[in-house]
Amino acid sequence: MALDLTQLPKRDDANVGTMARGLVGSEILRIAAEIRELTAQGRKVCNLTVGDFSPREFPIPASLGQGIANALQAGETNYPPSDGVLDLRQSVQRFYERILGVKYPLEGIVIAGGARPIIYGTYRAVLDAGDTVIYPVPSWNNNHYTHMMGAKEIVVATHPDQGFMPTVEQLAPHLPQARLLCLCSPLNPTGTMISAEALQAICERVVAENRARQSRGQKPLILMYDHIYWTLSFGQAKHVTPVTLVPEVAQYTVFVDGISKAFASTGLRVGWGVGPPSIISRMRDVLGHVGAWAPKPEQVATARVLDDVAGTDEFLKTMRLRVDERLEALYQGIARMREAGLPVRAIAPQGAIYLSVQFDLVGKAGLQSNDAIRKMLLEKASFGVVPFQAFGLKDDTGWFRLSVGAVSMAEIQDALPRLEAAIRATLSAA
Ligand SMILES: Cc1ncc(COP(=O)(O)O)c(C=O)c1O
Repeated sequence: MALDLTQLPKRDDANVGTMARGLVGSEILRIAAEIRELTAQGRKVCNLTVGDFSPREFPIPASLGQGIANALQAGETNYPPSDGVLDLRQSVQRFYERILGVKYPLEGIVIAGGARPIIYGTYRAVLDAGDTVIYPVPSWNNNHYTHMMGAKEIVVATHPDQGFMPTVEQLAPHLPQARLLCLCSPLNPTGTMISAEALQAICERVVAENRARQSRGQKPLILMYDHIYWTLSFGQAKHVTPVTLVPEVAQYTVFVDGISKAFASTGLRVGWGVGPPSIISRMRDVLGHVGAWAPKPEQVATARVLDDVAGTDEFLKTMRLRVDERLEALYQGIARMREAGLPVRAIAPQGAIYLSVQFDLVGKAGLQSNDAIRKMLLEKASFGVVPFQAFGLKDDTGWFRLSVGAVSMAEIQDALPRLEAAIRATLSAA
């Protein structure tokens, strides 16, 4: 008979260190679990919570799936090189040259098991415990990475009128204290993008700060630019990068990127970091010890997909259209409710798979917090959304993230009247 260990305690804080004890679990996963429960009871929920894709709505490129199967068949099952399969690093190099207009040396490109290890690797390679990270909120997971590093943080709260993007005026007073500045565009959770003017001003300030530090023999301020959603931009919004705007900032900039969002491939786990070889080579060493490589068949297949210029362009165009039509439908629906006098507003979608929506209901009908609004929308309208609190924002401002990767157009069209009815019922009960 097997030794029965099934009763081992689920929790014993004495067993773990301070960092792990203090790490906060994902708020979004908690909400997603609530929705799963409702769905299991037979409720049809318009699930706008997960930053993921439903494979039914957004399948991966057929050539990517086939390429992975072929690579497995061909026996590509041993360790990949710790900085990634050479073919893939070369195809990332060409991809950046072709679409972004920047050519990096191969030593400036490292492959990992998704974008998360690239972020972790950047924090790990740049920071010492006690160093300071500066990042705007709302933003995705910087609070958790800062915590894992034992770093200090300076959090800059942004404003809806600036599309929740930071300005140089907000950041500049804090830059002298920081070792790492984290920016993201298109931004999770807001679906907004930084303008060329705003990013250029910030990058010029980073360069000026680093010139001053160099003359004092101090370590530079590094810029982490997470642009994992850069292929998903809509309308007039144009994705810009620090290094094309201010070439001198390239020596301090690490890009975070990968196939998760661009190719609807969150489960395949292929990401890359691009930046100065002096940082990228250390990230490779850190990630090598963690073993955070992307699986080899996925790497081999991704290289082929990126090099298929016509196929990639076509796929990315279709992704953009399909994400955009969903975001537009939601945006127009919220705009109509606003015109009808309801206390709601949305920011026009610019990029990523998200829409920022304010349900301005705090203090109305007994709703005291964003979480209370979230629960009401879920219960009364089967409308699942995530409050900005899950992205580091402290105040209950009524702002929420709506994510469209896992819903069909029909689900959105069905949900909008339910949403309107629930808001009206709540207001009339007030
Ligand atoms: C802004 C941002 N960066 C990075 C990631 C992580 O991507 P990956 O799934 O490739 O680890 C996400 C995932 O949601 C994200 O929203």
